[in-house]
Amino acid sequence: MESTVPCKVADELEELLREASQVFSDYVRSSRDPQAPVIPRIEKLNLTIPEEDGMGAAGIWDDIQTICGAATNTWSERFLYKLYASPTPIGVVGEALVGLLNNNAHVFQASPIGALIEDKVGRQLAELAKFPADTAAGLTFPGGSYSNMHALMVARNRRFPELKRGGFAGAMAGGEWRRPMIFTSAHAHYSIEKAAVAAGIGLDNVVSVPTDAAGRMDSHALRVLVEQAIANGGAPFFVNATAGTTVLGAFDPIDEIAVVCADHGLWLHVDGSWGGPLALFSSDEELGRYRVDRADSFTVNPHKLMGVPLQCSFLLMRDGLAPMREALGLGASYLFHGGSPDVLDDVGDATMGCGRRPDAIKLWLAWRYHGTQYYRRRLAAARRLALDFADMVSARPPTALGCWRLVARPQSTCVCFWFVPGQPHSAPLPSWGHATRLLCARLNSLGHVLVDYATVDLPAGPLPTFFRLPLNSPHVTKETLASVLAAIEQTAQALTEEDPRCFVADSS
Ligand SMILES: Cc1ncc(COP(=O)(O)O)c(C=O)c1O
Repeated sequence: MESTVPCKVADELEELLREASQVFSDYVRSSRDPQAPVIPRIEKLNLTIPEEDGMGAAGIWDDIQTICGAATNTWSERFLYKLYASPTPIGVVGEALVGLLNNNAHVFQASPIGALIEDKVGRQLAELAKFPADTAAGLTFPGGSYSNMHALMVARNRRFPELKRGGFAGAMAGGEWRRPMIFTSAHAHYSIEKAAVAAGIGLDNVVSVPTDAAGRMDSHALRVLVEQAIANGGAPFFVNATAGTTVLGAFDPIDEIAVVCADHGLWLHVDGSWGGPLALFSSDEELGRYRVDRADSFTVNPHKLMGVPLQCSFLLMRDGLAPMREALGLGASYLFHGGSPDVLDDVGDATMGCGRRPDAIKLWLAWRYHGTQYYRRRLAAARRLALDFADMVSARPPTALGCWRLVARPQSTCVCFWFVPGQPHSAPLPSWGHATRLLCARLNSLGHVLVDYATVDLPAGPLPTFFRLPLNSPHVTKETLASVLAAIEQTAQALTEEDPRCFVADSS
């Protein structure tokens, strides 16, 4: 593709990229330094926009250095905060490529290569999910929340086709109207409730299904709740099962849930935004047998466990894109001219958006670069590390200030635990939660480690706030995790020296 045609804009790009290549790789090198902060202190930044002339290349590198210096450092193995981590280097190249092409994946002709790749990657993921090869397809959305929302909208319009034109007012005027209801576990991500808000279902019609002690949806309770809803004149139509809940990493029992859905004609969606890749790529006894194929739709976020840069989320549809087009398509003729009849249709009309990034290119490129085995190994290693870390926490000896206690055996790659102040008790106490929040805040304020906390309700009651560390980055090692536990102990020591009663709390 080399060309000798004079081109000023190409020269400008070349010069910028040459410098960027150095600045970016230096940034990654310094971010991986054992002393590098994870949350740098934000000094006074000059964020003004020049009124007249811009600063050009001469000034921009200072700005980029400033941004890098002030950014949260996801490349550090001590970034153990949310459910994503550093991208892979090829992921960064993929992100740059998508920016370079600036193709819009709404209509085929605007991004033929993007469309072909999206189609291929969607089918490949669907194959891993063991969806029927002749029908299944997938599309990217800007995040798991949007994928989940689209699944709900498709299910809603399939069950209540009159909504597309008449809306709720039109449907209710029909006289036969029954209240649409959806079901999701008490541990599901909030995006399901947001989707219910966006889809006009309303929060009061989202039924929260209790979980078992491990945080998995109780399928018997689901059946009872669905049947109660029908008996009370409601119209259940959608169940969301989670593959890897946000906090405990639980996998809802899909086989049992699928039976309830089949018995009552409900759409079964699986939100695998977090744990989906574990089900797709795992040969693990537990997760490798997870039957995603029993779902009607399935969300998976390569931007979480697979190291693709934010954002890259797929919604896979067992019956292909036709139900999406039917539910959401309008066929605006000024934009959609029918795609390329021999190759692929335009896909944008199947979504609630217009312009779309060809995010699938990022996953495709990374998958070609690394191969499937890389993901199998990476995910197996993350899972093994989570189990080893849980063992480390359980086996760690107490200090004079407290002891360690695991919340539960990890079911995906999140590890949840407490540093229990004082002597351990048989049941979790409110002071445990107070201690977690205090320790987390102080530790994070020092900038060297970034950890997070969460809480959940179990059948026996709410748990006090605990540490939740998602293990995602391949750079994290057992040594990293041992040093985080030591840092928590040191922080407990420092806080107690400042105030010996600091961990005493009267509420969680
Ligand atoms: C289970 C689950 N579903 C959905 C989401 C939302 O995904 P996104 O942040 O890509 O919108 C998350 C985010 O953490 C999640 O854990």
